[in-house]
Amino acid sequence: MKAYKSKVVSPIRLPDREEREANLKQAGYNVFNLDSEGVFVDLLTDSGTGTMSESQWAAMMVGDEAYAGSESFDRLREAVSDVMGFERILPAHQGRGAENVLYGALVEDGDYVPNNTHFDTTRAHIANNGAKPVDCPHEGALDGDRAFAGDLDVERVRELADEVGEERIPAVLLTITNNSLAGQPVSVENVREAREVADELDATFVIDACRFAENAYFVREREDEFAGESVADVAREQLSYADALVMSGKKDGLANVGGFVALRDDPDLDDVHAEARERAILYEGFTTYGGMAGRDLEAMAVGLREAVEESYIADRVGQVQRLGDLLAERDVPVQRPTGGHAVYVNAAEFLPDVPREQFPGQALVCDLYREGAVRGVELGSFAFPDTDRPELVRLSLPRRTYGADHLEHVAETFEKVAERRDAGDISGLEIVEEPEMAELRHFSAELRPVGEKEAPTAN
Ligand SMILES: Cc1ncc(COP(=O)(O)O)c(C=O)c1O
Repeated sequence: MKAYKSKVVSPIRLPDREEREANLKQAGYNVFNLDSEGVFVDLLTDSGTGTMSESQWAAMMVGDEAYAGSESFDRLREAVSDVMGFERILPAHQGRGAENVLYGALVEDGDYVPNNTHFDTTRAHIANNGAKPVDCPHEGALDGDRAFAGDLDVERVRELADEVGEERIPAVLLTITNNSLAGQPVSVENVREAREVADELDATFVIDACRFAENAYFVREREDEFAGESVADVAREQLSYADALVMSGKKDGLANVGGFVALRDDPDLDDVHAEARERAILYEGFTTYGGMAGRDLEAMAVGLREAVEESYIADRVGQVQRLGDLLAERDVPVQRPTGGHAVYVNAAEFLPDVPREQFPGQALVCDLYREGAVRGVELGSFAFPDTDRPELVRLSLPRRTYGADHLEHVAETFEKVAERRDAGDISGLEIVEEPEMAELRHFSAELRPVGEKEAPTAN
């Protein structure tokens, strides 16, 4: 049950089928190119798309817009200290800004960086700084009902160190929850193991904490040691093992923009802090605003506290589970148990006649738009070329935004797509144009249905 009611509403519209078909073509069969005005239920991302609380809006009014030393920065620092247990922070305009600041200070040409699974911007920033991102999830992590399928396989990290030399691994990363692996959670036991392996390699242990509150909720529900504890306590415990955090405030900061790097107040990290500070000033802005307005710092400070409130987090994760149930009831192959922020559909199973080289995930994403103006995102071979990732489509729920009837609409849209599939009406896609940086191609590439000769015209 939602522990809130609506006070501000935002109208949405369901375009007719002809308009949807035209929009799709105009967008080059890439839903990142669609105008949001033509999207009815937007599940592209949970990042910065949520609804803020009245307390957040109220806090924005007292934003201190001073260039240096603003009161809003102090309030954010206090919130990070209280909720996450870190004292030193460098604000950034969003998560990838924080990644650029920290990873540029940590890695060098020829390094290797293991992570349970790199999110696309993380992968890109590690690569952009000359290092090789290496995914180390457990083999077959998504097979069966694992309570903590997001875990890092620390033995794979040790094998990597044996292969490349431990001096080539400056950092061990852990992404909680594991967005690119179906949003699956990571246990605190695994956080402790990751800390241990980082110590063995004399590496900095970084947690990507974007969804720290959702992860803490799963830990409390599934890891015996934490049964009955508050999500707030578990959140602090799981982060307490890290040397540094990278945070996108657009997720569990419950804000529409913002992020930060947090570093433990430890003399061993002073050099990293000094270099990260310089990079923050160079790329983000002065160290007390980092590309954010004072009011945005305020919204995130309040949002971090709200993210670990029991009524909020139970409703949040519960809604994602409900969408997963609605789809599973209609025989849609969804990853079970569902993750914290999104439902992941196995597109290769759902569209078995579309071969991998014709991007079944992207074909499904396009059909969800065509049939119901629902926007999801492909996270398979189109988004991650040259990897053997499963062909997933992610349906992310913006926080505190949609209601039960929107979830029903998504489920009904899947029914319509299934009918088209059964009639043999869904074709695969081929790429017409793609950017140079392959890691970012799903944001801007253009495609067309296989066999269609006419070039698309994206806006
Ligand atoms: C795990 C993870 N890390 C980093 C980022 C990047 O954050 P942002 O979109 O704020 O740049 C994201 C965004 O979705 C993410 O899910």
